[in-house]
Amino acid sequence: MINLKNIHKSYTVRGKVVPALNGLDLSVVRGEIFGVIGHSGAGKSTLVRLINLLERPTQGTLVVDGEDILSFDDAALRSFRRNIGMIFQHFNLLHSKTVAENIAFPLRIKGEKDNAKIDARIDQMLDLVGLAKHKHKYPQQLSGGEKQRVGIARALANQPKILLCDEATSALDPQTTRSILQLLREINEKLKLTIVLITHEMDVIRTICDRVAVIDSGKIVEQGPVAQVFLHPRHPTTRNFVLEAENSSDDDLAQTIGQVSDGLIRRLTFINTSIEQPVLTQVARECDVDFLILSGRFGKIKSTPCGQVTVSVRGDIDRAKAALVKLAGAGVIVEENF
Ligand SMILES: Nc1ncnc2c1ncn2[C@@H]1O[C@H](COP(=O)(O)OP(=O)(O)O)[C@@H](O)[C@H]1O
Ligand SMILES: [Mg+2]
Repeated sequence: MINLKNIHKSYTVRGKVVPALNGLDLSVVRGEIFGVIGHSGAGKSTLVRLINLLERPTQGTLVVDGEDILSFDDAALRSFRRNIGMIFQHFNLLHSKTVAENIAFPLRIKGEKDNAKIDARIDQMLDLVGLAKHKHKYPQQLSGGEKQRVGIARALANQPKILLCDEATSALDPQTTRSILQLLREINEKLKLTIVLITHEMDVIRTICDRVAVIDSGKIVEQGPVAQVFLHPRHPTTRNFVLEAENSSDDDLAQTIGQVSDGLIRRLTFINTSIEQPVLTQVARECDVDFLILSGRFGKIKSTPCGQVTVSVRGDIDRAKAALVKLAGAGVIVEENF
Protein backbone atom coordinates (compact mmCIF):
# COMPACT_ATOMS: atom_id res chain seq x y z
CA MET A 1 0.00 0.00 0.00
CA ILE A 2 2.84 2.37 0.87
CA ASN A 3 6.41 2.09 -0.36
CA LEU A 4 9.17 4.50 0.59
CA LYS A 5 12.66 3.96 -0.76
CA ASN A 6 15.80 5.80 0.25
CA ILE A 7 13.81 8.81 1.42
CA HIS A 8 15.77 11.89 2.46
CA LYS A 9 14.17 15.01 3.81
CA SER A 10 15.84 18.08 5.18
CA TYR A 11 14.47 21.45 6.20
CA THR A 12 16.28 24.71 5.63
CA VAL A 13 16.00 26.99 8.63
CA ARG A 14 17.61 30.45 8.29
CA GLY A 15 20.04 29.18 5.66
CA LYS A 16 21.00 26.13 7.72
CA VAL A 17 20.10 22.62 6.54
CA VAL A 18 18.35 20.52 9.21
CA PRO A 19 18.22 16.82 8.26
CA ALA A 20 15.01 15.04 9.33
CA LEU A 21 15.01 11.76 7.35
CA ASN A 22 18.24 10.11 6.18
CA GLY A 23 17.74 7.30 3.70
CA LEU A 24 14.59 5.77 5.05
CA ASP A 25 13.04 2.58 3.60
CA LEU A 26 9.57 1.45 4.59
CA SER A 27 6.78 -0.65 3.17
CA VAL A 28 3.29 -0.98 4.57
CA VAL A 29 1.06 -3.86 3.49
CA ARG A 30 -2.57 -3.27 2.51
CA GLY A 31 -4.93 -3.77 5.45
CA GLU A 32 -2.35 -3.92 8.23
CA ILE A 33 -1.85 -1.69 11.24
CA PHE A 34 1.73 -0.53 10.91
CA GLY A 35 3.35 1.21 13.86
CA VAL A 36 6.29 3.59 13.81
CA ILE A 37 7.91 4.26 17.17
CA GLY A 38 10.61 6.80 17.92
CA HIS A 39 11.70 9.48 20.36
CA SER A 40 10.79 13.13 19.96
CA GLY A 41 12.64 14.62 16.99
CA ALA A 42 13.32 11.22 15.39
CA GLY A 43 11.40 12.20 12.25
CA LYS A 44 8.01 10.54 12.85
CA SER A 45 5.80 13.49 11.94
CA THR A 46 7.94 14.26 8.91
CA LEU A 47 7.55 10.66 7.78
CA VAL A 48 3.79 10.64 8.17
CA ARG A 49 3.43 14.00 6.40
CA LEU A 50 5.40 12.63 3.45
CA ILE A 51 2.86 9.88 2.89
CA ASN A 52 0.19 12.40 1.88
CA LEU A 53 2.78 14.82 0.50
CA LEU A 54 2.13 17.57 3.02
CA GLU A 55 5.93 17.53 2.82
CA ARG A 56 7.94 16.55 -0.25
CA PRO A 57 11.07 14.42 0.12
CA THR A 58 14.39 15.99 -0.85
CA GLN A 59 15.34 12.65 -2.44
CA GLY A 60 13.89 9.15 -2.84
CA THR A 61 10.87 7.37 -4.27
CA LEU A 62 7.39 7.19 -2.82
CA VAL A 63 4.67 4.90 -4.15
CA VAL A 64 1.23 4.85 -2.53
CA ASP A 65 -1.51 2.46 -3.65
CA GLY A 66 0.55 1.67 -6.75
CA GLU A 67 0.91 5.32 -7.80
CA ASP A 68 4.09 7.35 -8.13
CA ILE A 69 2.57 10.27 -6.26
CA LEU A 70 5.66 12.48 -6.60
CA SER A 71 4.83 12.87 -10.28
CA PHE A 72 1.25 14.05 -9.62
CA ASP A 73 0.11 17.56 -10.59
CA ASP A 74 -2.00 19.63 -8.16
CA ALA A 75 -5.36 18.28 -9.32
CA ALA A 76 -4.21 14.66 -9.18
CA LEU A 77 -2.72 15.28 -5.75
CA ARG A 78 -5.95 16.79 -4.44
CA SER A 79 -7.98 13.77 -5.47
CA PHE A 80 -5.28 11.38 -4.26
CA ARG A 81 -5.32 12.98 -0.78
CA ARG A 82 -8.97 11.99 -0.36
CA ASN A 83 -7.70 8.42 -0.11
CA ILE A 84 -5.84 9.34 3.05
CA GLY A 85 -7.35 10.39 6.36
CA MET A 86 -5.30 11.76 9.21
CA ILE A 87 -5.76 12.21 12.95
CA PHE A 88 -3.59 14.21 15.32
CA GLN A 89 -2.48 14.43 18.93
CA HIS A 90 -4.45 17.64 19.54
CA PHE A 91 -7.40 16.60 17.38
CA ASN A 92 -7.29 19.79 15.18
CA LEU A 93 -11.09 20.22 15.22
CA LEU A 94 -12.80 23.43 14.10
CA HIS A 95 -13.93 24.94 17.40
CA SER A 96 -16.63 27.20 15.98
CA LYS A 97 -18.33 24.26 14.27
CA THR A 98 -20.45 21.46 15.72
CA VAL A 99 -19.47 17.81 15.66
CA ALA A 100 -21.71 17.30 12.62
CA GLU A 101 -20.20 20.28 10.77
CA ASN A 102 -16.67 19.08 11.56
CA ILE A 103 -17.45 15.71 10.00
CA ALA A 104 -19.16 17.37 7.01
CA PHE A 105 -16.14 19.58 6.38
CA PRO A 106 -14.08 17.19 4.19
CA LEU A 107 -17.23 16.26 2.26
CA ARG A 108 -17.95 19.91 1.46
CA ILE A 109 -14.31 20.49 0.49
CA LYS A 110 -14.64 17.62 -1.94
CA GLY A 111 -17.56 19.48 -3.52
CA GLU A 112 -20.47 17.47 -2.13
CA LYS A 113 -23.57 19.71 -2.13
CA ASP A 114 -26.38 17.24 -1.43
CA ASN A 115 -27.27 17.98 2.19
CA ALA A 116 -29.29 14.79 2.66
CA LYS A 117 -26.31 12.76 1.49
CA ILE A 118 -23.97 14.65 3.80
CA ASP A 119 -26.31 14.19 6.74
CA ALA A 120 -26.61 10.46 6.11
CA ARG A 121 -22.84 10.19 6.01
CA ILE A 122 -22.50 12.16 9.26
CA ASP A 123 -24.93 9.79 11.01
CA GLN A 124 -23.12 6.76 9.64
CA MET A 125 -19.79 8.11 10.91
CA LEU A 126 -21.22 9.05 14.31
CA ASP A 127 -22.56 5.51 14.70
CA LEU A 128 -19.18 4.08 13.76
CA VAL A 129 -17.37 6.06 16.46
CA GLY A 130 -20.20 5.84 19.02
CA LEU A 131 -21.04 9.56 19.25
CA ALA A 132 -24.58 9.71 17.87
CA LYS A 133 -25.89 11.68 20.83
CA HIS A 134 -23.23 14.39 20.52
CA LYS A 135 -24.05 15.37 16.95
CA HIS A 136 -24.94 18.98 17.67
CA LYS A 137 -22.39 19.71 20.39
CA TYR A 138 -19.30 21.86 19.99
CA PRO A 139 -15.78 20.45 20.51
CA GLN A 140 -15.30 22.33 23.82
CA GLN A 141 -18.28 20.40 25.24
CA LEU A 142 -16.52 17.06 24.65
CA SER A 143 -13.87 15.08 26.53
CA GLY A 144 -10.48 14.37 24.94
CA GLY A 145 -11.51 10.85 23.94
CA GLU A 146 -14.74 12.13 22.38
CA LYS A 147 -12.83 14.81 20.47
CA GLN A 148 -10.54 12.15 19.04
CA ARG A 149 -13.61 10.13 18.02
CA VAL A 150 -14.81 13.18 16.09
CA GLY A 151 -11.33 13.41 14.56
CA ILE A 152 -11.61 9.78 13.45
CA ALA A 153 -15.13 10.30 12.06
CA ARG A 154 -13.93 13.33 10.10
CA ALA A 155 -10.86 11.48 8.82
CA LEU A 156 -13.02 8.62 7.56
CA ALA A 157 -15.87 10.70 6.09
CA ASN A 158 -14.46 10.46 2.56
CA GLN A 159 -13.92 6.68 2.84
CA PRO A 160 -10.13 6.80 2.62
CA LYS A 161 -7.98 3.71 2.06
CA ILE A 162 -5.33 4.81 4.52
CA LEU A 163 -5.57 6.36 7.98
CA LEU A 164 -2.49 8.15 9.32
CA CYS A 165 -2.37 8.63 13.09
CA ASP A 166 0.25 11.03 14.45
CA GLU A 167 0.49 10.51 18.23
CA ALA A 168 -3.31 10.19 18.22
CA THR A 169 -3.47 8.94 21.81
CA SER A 170 -0.57 10.90 23.32
CA ALA A 171 -2.85 13.54 24.88
CA LEU A 172 -5.22 10.97 26.38
CA ASP A 173 -5.26 9.15 29.72
CA PRO A 174 -4.49 5.39 29.71
CA GLN A 175 -8.11 4.23 29.83
CA THR A 176 -9.22 6.57 27.04
CA THR A 177 -6.14 5.54 25.05
CA ARG A 178 -7.29 1.92 25.27
CA SER A 179 -10.79 2.76 24.06
CA ILE A 180 -9.47 4.77 21.10
CA LEU A 181 -7.05 1.96 20.19
CA GLN A 182 -9.92 -0.52 20.39
CA LEU A 183 -11.94 1.70 18.03
CA LEU A 184 -9.03 1.90 15.57
CA ARG A 185 -8.75 -1.85 15.64
CA GLU A 186 -12.46 -2.32 14.93
CA ILE A 187 -12.26 0.16 12.07
CA ASN A 188 -9.23 -1.62 10.63
CA GLU A 189 -11.12 -4.93 10.66
CA LYS A 190 -14.53 -3.63 9.56
CA LEU A 191 -13.38 -1.28 6.80
CA LYS A 192 -10.17 -3.15 5.80
CA LEU A 193 -8.44 0.17 6.27
CA THR A 194 -4.64 0.40 6.23
CA ILE A 195 -3.48 2.25 9.34
CA VAL A 196 -0.09 3.88 9.91
CA LEU A 197 0.28 4.75 13.54
CA ILE A 198 3.05 6.95 14.89
CA THR A 199 3.80 6.90 18.61
CA HIS A 200 6.50 7.15 21.25
CA GLU A 201 4.75 4.53 23.43
CA MET A 202 5.59 0.84 23.11
CA ASP A 203 2.30 -0.14 24.76
CA VAL A 204 0.35 1.44 21.91
CA ILE A 205 2.35 -0.63 19.43
CA ARG A 206 1.89 -3.80 21.46
CA THR A 207 -1.86 -3.33 21.78
CA ILE A 208 -2.87 -2.95 18.13
CA CYS A 209 -0.06 -3.08 15.60
CA ASP A 210 0.76 -5.98 13.30
CA ARG A 211 4.22 -4.77 12.36
CA VAL A 212 6.45 -2.04 13.71
CA ALA A 213 9.40 0.03 12.59
CA VAL A 214 11.70 1.81 15.02
CA ILE A 215 12.90 5.20 13.79
CA ASP A 216 16.00 6.88 15.18
CA SER A 217 17.62 10.02 13.77
CA GLY A 218 15.65 9.82 10.55
CA LYS A 219 16.41 6.15 9.84
CA ILE A 220 14.60 2.88 10.43
CA VAL A 221 16.90 0.94 12.77
CA GLU A 222 14.76 -2.17 13.24
CA GLN A 223 11.47 -3.48 11.90
CA GLY A 224 9.38 -6.63 11.84
CA PRO A 225 6.28 -8.30 13.29
CA VAL A 226 5.45 -6.77 16.68
CA ALA A 227 5.95 -10.07 18.54
CA GLN A 228 9.46 -10.42 17.13
CA VAL A 229 10.53 -6.83 17.79
CA PHE A 230 8.89 -6.75 21.21
CA LEU A 231 10.22 -10.08 22.48
CA HIS A 232 13.62 -10.05 20.78
CA PRO A 233 14.64 -6.40 20.32
CA ARG A 234 18.10 -6.02 18.82
CA HIS A 235 18.88 -2.34 18.34
CA PRO A 236 19.66 -0.38 21.54
CA THR A 237 16.87 2.13 20.80
CA THR A 238 14.35 -0.69 20.50
CA ARG A 239 15.64 -2.34 23.68
CA ASN A 240 15.17 0.92 25.54
CA PHE A 241 11.59 1.32 24.32
CA VAL A 242 10.72 -2.23 25.29
CA LEU A 243 12.43 -2.11 28.68
CA GLU A 244 11.03 1.35 29.50
CA ALA A 245 7.54 -0.03 28.94
CA GLU A 246 8.38 -2.67 31.55
CA ASN A 247 9.92 -0.19 33.98
CA SER A 248 13.17 -2.07 33.58
CA SER A 249 16.57 -1.64 31.93
CA ASP A 250 19.47 -3.71 30.60
CA ASP A 251 21.48 -2.56 33.64
CA ASP A 252 18.85 -3.85 36.09
CA LEU A 253 18.88 -7.27 34.51
CA ALA A 254 22.69 -7.39 34.26
CA GLN A 255 22.87 -6.56 37.96
CA THR A 256 20.41 -9.31 38.89
CA ILE A 257 22.26 -11.85 36.75
CA GLY A 258 25.59 -10.71 38.24
CA GLN A 259 24.33 -11.66 41.70
CA VAL A 260 23.52 -15.21 40.60
CA SER A 261 26.43 -17.55 41.19
CA ASP A 262 25.29 -20.85 39.73
CA GLY A 263 23.06 -22.47 37.12
CA LEU A 264 22.64 -21.88 33.41
CA ILE A 265 21.26 -18.43 32.68
CA ARG A 266 18.75 -18.47 29.82
CA ARG A 267 15.89 -16.39 28.51
CA LEU A 268 12.73 -18.37 27.84
CA THR A 269 9.97 -17.02 25.60
CA PHE A 270 6.50 -18.54 25.68
CA ILE A 271 4.20 -17.80 22.79
CA ASN A 272 1.37 -19.65 21.04
CA THR A 273 1.12 -23.25 22.31
CA SER A 274 3.92 -23.09 24.87
CA ILE A 275 2.06 -20.43 26.89
CA GLU A 276 -0.98 -22.67 27.33
CA GLN A 277 0.87 -25.63 28.85
CA PRO A 278 2.58 -25.89 32.25
CA VAL A 279 5.84 -26.78 30.47
CA LEU A 280 8.20 -25.23 32.99
CA THR A 281 7.04 -27.31 35.96
CA GLN A 282 6.65 -30.44 33.83
CA VAL A 283 10.22 -30.19 32.60
CA ALA A 284 11.48 -29.40 36.12
CA ARG A 285 9.86 -32.60 37.38
CA GLU A 286 10.92 -34.79 34.48
CA CYS A 287 14.56 -33.63 34.47
CA ASP A 288 14.89 -33.09 38.22
CA VAL A 289 16.10 -29.49 37.90
CA ASP A 290 15.00 -26.20 39.48
CA PHE A 291 14.31 -22.88 37.85
CA LEU A 292 15.15 -19.66 39.65
CA ILE A 293 13.20 -16.87 37.99
CA LEU A 294 15.28 -13.68 37.71
CA SER A 295 12.92 -11.51 35.72
CA GLY A 296 9.73 -11.94 33.80
CA ARG A 297 6.94 -10.34 31.86
CA PHE A 298 3.60 -11.64 30.71
CA GLY A 299 0.94 -10.05 28.58
CA LYS A 300 -0.65 -9.92 25.18
CA ILE A 301 0.75 -8.79 21.87
CA LYS A 302 -2.37 -7.73 19.99
CA SER A 303 -4.47 -10.89 20.60
CA THR A 304 -1.62 -13.31 21.24
CA PRO A 305 -0.78 -14.13 24.87
CA CYS A 306 2.94 -14.42 25.51
CA GLY A 307 5.47 -14.46 28.29
CA GLN A 308 9.18 -14.14 28.76
CA VAL A 309 11.28 -15.09 31.78
CA THR A 310 14.97 -15.04 32.49
CA VAL A 311 15.93 -18.04 34.61
CA SER A 312 18.86 -19.78 36.18
CA VAL A 313 18.53 -23.54 35.61
CA ARG A 314 19.87 -25.33 38.68
CA GLY A 315 20.94 -28.93 39.13
CA ASP A 316 23.30 -31.41 37.49
CA ILE A 317 24.73 -29.76 34.34
CA ASP A 318 23.72 -32.59 31.97
CA ARG A 319 20.19 -32.63 33.35
CA ALA A 320 20.01 -28.85 33.08
CA LYS A 321 21.03 -29.06 29.43
CA ALA A 322 18.51 -31.84 28.82
CA ALA A 323 15.83 -29.66 30.41
CA LEU A 324 16.60 -26.83 27.97
CA VAL A 325 16.37 -29.23 25.03
CA LYS A 326 12.98 -30.40 26.30
CA LEU A 327 11.76 -26.83 26.68
CA ALA A 328 12.80 -26.04 23.13
CA GLY A 329 11.03 -29.20 21.99
CA ALA A 330 7.85 -27.95 23.64
CA GLY A 331 7.98 -24.74 21.61
CA VAL A 332 9.67 -22.49 24.16
CA ILE A 333 12.27 -20.16 22.60
CA VAL A 334 15.48 -20.69 24.58
CA GLU A 335 18.21 -18.05 24.28
CA GLU A 336 21.65 -17.98 25.84
CA ASN A 337 22.65 -14.58 24.48
CA PHE A 338 19.91 -12.02 24.74
N1 LIG B 1 8.86 22.53 9.53
C1 LIG B 1 10.08 22.29 9.99
N2 LIG B 1 11.09 23.18 9.82
C2 LIG B 1 12.33 22.92 10.27
N3 LIG B 1 12.69 21.80 10.92
C3 LIG B 1 11.74 20.88 11.14
C4 LIG B 1 10.39 21.08 10.69
N4 LIG B 1 9.67 19.99 11.05
C5 LIG B 1 10.52 19.15 11.68
N5 LIG B 1 11.76 19.69 11.74
C6 LIG B 1 12.96 19.03 12.31
O1 LIG B 1 13.06 17.72 11.79
C7 LIG B 1 13.41 16.78 12.78
C8 LIG B 1 12.31 15.71 12.87
O2 LIG B 1 11.12 16.32 13.36
P1 LIG B 1 9.73 15.57 13.47
O3 LIG B 1 9.48 14.86 12.19
O4 LIG B 1 8.71 16.56 13.91
O5 LIG B 1 10.03 14.51 14.61
P2 LIG B 1 9.04 13.73 15.61
O6 LIG B 1 7.66 13.83 15.06
O7 LIG B 1 9.59 12.35 15.65
O8 LIG B 1 9.18 14.40 16.95
C9 LIG B 1 13.61 17.57 14.05
O9 LIG B 1 14.97 17.86 14.16
C10 LIG B 1 12.82 18.82 13.83
O10 LIG B 1 13.35 19.89 14.54
MG1 LIG C 1 5.86 14.48 15.90
